[in-house]
Amino acid sequence: MKKKILRVLNYNFKNSITCLTAYSPAIAKILDGNVNIILVGDSLGTTLYGMNNCRNVTLDMMKIHGKAVIKNIKKSITVVDMPYKSYTNSEAALKNAKSLLSFTKANMLKLEINKKNIPLVKYLTSKNINVVSHIGVTPQSFSDFSKIKAVGRTEKESNDLLNLAKKSENLGAKIILLECVTQKTAKKITENVSVPTIGIGSSKYCDGQVLVFDDLIGFDSSKFNPRFVKRYMNFDKQAKTAVKKFTKDVKRKKFPSKKNSYH
Ligand code: KIV
Repeated sequence: MKKKILRVLNYNFKNSITCLTAYSPAIAKILDGNVNIILVGDSLGTTLYGMNNCRNVTLDMMKIHGKAVIKNIKKSITVVDMPYKSYTNSEAALKNAKSLLSFTKANMLKLEINKKNIPLVKYLTSKNINVVSHIGVTPQSFSDFSKIKAVGRTEKESNDLLNLAKKSENLGAKIILLECVTQKTAKKITENVSVPTIGIGSSKYCDGQVLVFDDLIGFDSSKFNPRFVKRYMNFDKQAKTAVKKFTKDVKRKKFPSKKNSYH
């Protein structure tokens, strides 16, 4: 089979595309140039703000975090999520997309796409907005995340997703993001669209992979992680050790030392 050309905007990728989320400047600086794409995702609602779902994430929250992240990025491609109810019709979608783009200077915007709202891909693309079409499991459709399960198992579901992906591409989407799509369906979609697919919980057959940065570093080890998350370090264990050392130092008057004081 002919090798697929992995192209996003002006970037050509030789192999799998990498993407992680960032909500703050410090994380943006860690990721910049070390992953191909940085996503300011509306997962910040649950991950950073402790919300039960993403539905209370506002356009202002995405603007503030988007700007804070993107002004610290020089190398990676940037994507910002359009939050719940910010694209309920084409007029609102365009107004909010323009406002998000001009405030954050993001390269692309991500929308959760379904059969009904798919014309938005064409509409926003026609206004020169770079759209990432997020299909499969679309978290904004869920108030209770425990109800989320993988999609694409039945033939109908699989064909519907393939059609949605193909249509997204034809209408101008530059990336198709597949969330919790079964391996077979993700492979079929990836092989049948010419734009890159980026998967989360959607198997190695996607053209790239995305994870929430906080999950990858194990920021909160008490948090339930779905099976698709791979934790690459145990940050919270190391952070607790540092905090305990600080407490011990303060209690024993070892901190602040002369070095940490003004003379
Ligand atoms: O909001 C987000 O972080 C996302 C990723 C998990 C794909 O949409």
